[in-house]
Amino acid sequence: METYTVIPEELKLAVLERIKPTAVEREKLLAIQKELVSQVEAAAERLGIPDVLVKMVGSAARGTWLSGTHDIDVFISFPEETARTELETLGMAIAREVAKHAEHAEDRHAEHPYLNIIYKGFDVDLVPCFRVASASRIKSAVDRTPFHNDFVKPRVKGREDEVLLLKQFMRGGGVYGSELKTQGFSGYLTELLIIHYGFFENTVRAACSWKPGQKIDIMRHAEIEHIEPLVMVDPTDPRRNVAAALSLDKFCMFIDHCREFLKSPELSFFFPATSLPLKDREILASLEARKSTQLAIVFKTPDVVEDVLYPQLYKMEQAAAALLKEYDFTVIKTGIWSGKSETAVLLELISGTLPNVKKHVGPPVWVKTHAEKFKEKYQEAADGVFGGYIENGKYVFEIRRKYPTAKGLLEDRLMTCSLGKSVCQSVSEGFEIIEDAGICRLKDTDFRVFLRGWM
Ligand code: CTP
Ligand code: MG
Repeated sequence: METYTVIPEELKLAVLERIKPTAVEREKLLAIQKELVSQVEAAAERLGIPDVLVKMVGSAARGTWLSGTHDIDVFISFPEETARTELETLGMAIAREVAKHAEHAEDRHAEHPYLNIIYKGFDVDLVPCFRVASASRIKSAVDRTPFHNDFVKPRVKGREDEVLLLKQFMRGGGVYGSELKTQGFSGYLTELLIIHYGFFENTVRAACSWKPGQKIDIMRHAEIEHIEPLVMVDPTDPRRNVAAALSLDKFCMFIDHCREFLKSPELSFFFPATSLPLKDREILASLEARKSTQLAIVFKTPDVVEDVLYPQLYKMEQAAAALLKEYDFTVIKTGIWSGKSETAVLLELISGTLPNVKKHVGPPVWVKTHAEKFKEKYQEAADGVFGGYIENGKYVFEIRRKYPTAKGLLEDRLMTCSLGKSVCQSVSEGFEIIEDAGICRLKDTDFRVFLRGWM
């Protein structure tokens, strides 16, 4: 029988003490939300735009935000029949009018434009959307959000603490956030898990036995089959998987985090100790101990938002590894790190050098024309060939390897890889391949923290 630890009440209280918004914080947020609603309404009226409704959504509207995070989502909805262009111009006009009272404003873009403002210290998204009849009839992805709110709010009432615990626990495990950089659990997904399993503890227990393909369908209304690691059928839209952004590795990291936590429930699972940046001498010692080759492709960080940048970086990581494999290098692992000014794609190889000789296997001797052509070609290329023989019935020539070093290969052929637009632009302006101890050149503290996990 499995041993059964109960998560101590004091532990949960200790966590909540650090993450639960205080009454003062709650009142302040509520007041700001009210202010924003009247600001938007007043703006619409001043601009003579009728039929506009304002709605607070997201964790701030549901009482499930983590203390200290200050984001508010304000949705400005227009009648369903509004034209898309009209929604964009009128919605943005209202948002800009509100932004006149803000400290800072910035245009952002999801499926359509919205405005991000800093208002009295709060990070506020002003998002125009269509007021559709149901979430299955959305015209734009953001139109679902108000439905999420209507579903979650009454059901999560009284269980806000459970949501907060789960969110912080996921943060501690490095799996919280559904942005393309993290590929983890979204806030909405966390709330649905609590609605389904009832409590933080039940969720953690259940997750210990999850397998890829785990399906949760709260409304029992799924309309299509999904093949993602976790399928959380959207209660407001039977065709959507709320967990579509969750990667297999983040899914498994969460399972692992839950299992380890239940073995010894401790505060550190919610608040892991921050690791220290790796010092030069530690880098050198680790290189010496590992005896592999470390390579970093370093270039200027493209000036685009993370949701655009990261998919391109993941793609580049794959492409660089594939290039190395194609030329006989053995890749142990790959990783990416991106800072304000510089970005690095890291590759650890069994070895960064290969012998000059490369074994080139040709056709079987009895496939007459092909075999003769092959033999002729390599016999004539005298300086590029060390020798030839027959092995297992096939002609084999020992030829000179074009790229005996991984560094040389990357310098010469990286630009032939298929790269995303912004990364390609930046890499073509210049990149550097640094090797082993050369990595010490990168001094960024955050990079050095990343390196501690890497090496
Ligand atoms: N949303 C969504 N899918 C995402 C991201 C967001 O459907 N991948 C919707 C959800 O309805 C969510 C709302 O947009 O509640 C606001 O998004 P966000 O601020 O990212 O999440 P929160 O739920 O507010 O959680 P957090 O506490 O992390 O802010
Ligand atoms: Mg939010």
